[in-house]
Parts: sequence; C-alpha cells; structure tokens
Amino acid sequence: MKREKTACSCKNVNYGMILDAVKGGADTVEKIQAATGCGTGCGKCRDFITTMIRDILMFPEDYEE
Ligand code: FES
Repeated sequence: MKREKTACSCKNVNYGMILDAVKGGADTVEKIQAATGCGTGCGKCRDFITTMIRDILMFPEDYEE
C-alpha cells in the first residue's frame, strides 16, 4: 500500500491516514470521517473508504508496515 496515495481528494486524506485511523480503532465510515475528515466533502469516496476499512479489518497482515 502506498501511504501517500490519495483516498479523498476533497479533504486531502491519504491511504496512510486512513490506515492509522483504523488501527487506532475507527472501524466505521463515521469514525473515519470524525478522525480524518475524509468523506465529508462531495462524498464520492465513501464507498471506497467503506471497502478499505473492511479490507484492513479482514486482512490486517496485508497492511503491516
Ligand atoms: S473525495 Fe472524499 S469527500 Fe470528496
């Protein structure tokens, strides 16, 4: 995973910020929004964020750094 890759262009949130938030216990889109601000603009990234949270929680070993 490229930490610097953009996940939410409206709020300038990258993959690494989402990963850190999920590792910190944010396990829903709402919690990720509160932690990073992502998905609070146009909203088009929300489905992607949902998928990313699910993937991190299901396959945490894939996200170890
Ligand atoms: S791209 Fe995330 S809110 Fe617009």
